[in-house]
Amino acid sequence: MRIRKAVFPVAGLGTRFLPATKASAKEMLPVVDKPLIQYAVAEAVSAGAEELVFITGRSKNSIMDHFDKAYELENELQERGKTKLLEVVQEILPPGITCIFIRQAEALGLGHAVLCAWPAVGDEDFYVILADDLIDGQLRPCLAQMHRVYQEYGTSVLACEQVPHDEIGSYGVVDVKPVGPGLGEIKKIVEKPKPDEAPSNLAVVGRYILTPRIFKILQRTQAGSGGEIQLTDAISQMMQEQTVLAYEFDGKRYDCGSKLGYLKANVEYALKHPEVGEDFRNYLHELSIEEHFEEGKKDHAAG
Ligand code: G1P
Repeated sequence: MRIRKAVFPVAGLGTRFLPATKASAKEMLPVVDKPLIQYAVAEAVSAGAEELVFITGRSKNSIMDHFDKAYELENELQERGKTKLLEVVQEILPPGITCIFIRQAEALGLGHAVLCAWPAVGDEDFYVILADDLIDGQLRPCLAQMHRVYQEYGTSVLACEQVPHDEIGSYGVVDVKPVGPGLGEIKKIVEKPKPDEAPSNLAVVGRYILTPRIFKILQRTQAGSGGEIQLTDAISQMMQEQTVLAYEFDGKRYDCGSKLGYLKANVEYALKHPEVGEDFRNYLHELSIEEHFEEGKKDHAAG
């Protein structure tokens, strides 16, 4: 049992990053030197995906260009003997991987974006990846971990994580019956509940393995939370017919849809970066000594 197709809903407006996202895609924001969408694609490919389906909207051409072959750039790098950089550019899309771009004409919600992928996905189980949830899977990428669960249970799997109670209203939230360590069968799922009404603190994050049954259900799904067609509502419906599992992955997630989460990701990925990691660590160290010194001066003046 393999999953060959991965869907990337990338039509969102990225309003939390305005003005940076006025004319360019939020998924192209870099974490150190790679855009968010490239991390997402690498994760899907590591979990066996061969066909990548991007659901795009306006101002998203840079995503298409990023995964396209750049003949002029490659020739230029070749001629100048910049072979390392040439490799970096050529590795963006590994051989044998194809990309399909589908335009979501109206931003009607995540559920609608996934429905737009139906003609490309057809009657197969598939991945959905939200690129602004960047996940450092440590031992194994998050989707590859989920794929193992899928191979054992042969059913839909959602990546989940405990989140602080006051943040729970920003997520799809699940109530589960435990099945194994870090694994539960979802009994209830609600999109962006009021914290007092949330069934638990276990939130769905941006990785899904879904069966194609979801498409038929999405066709009939009415607008829900925020006036949008919600994937969560369709999953809730699907649970009446099929088992859906919640999997608490090993790893660290950065909410790169928020400024703070994005900054944290940049700092931590920079610290691990082979080229700049060490210098960056030294720089942060100096900076913290300076801050400490400044704080000390302030305290001294106040006291
Ligand atoms: C979407 C989903 C939500 C999920 C979240 C994870 O919400 O609708 O259920 O918990 O992604 O990042 P969004 O962040 O697009 O509002």
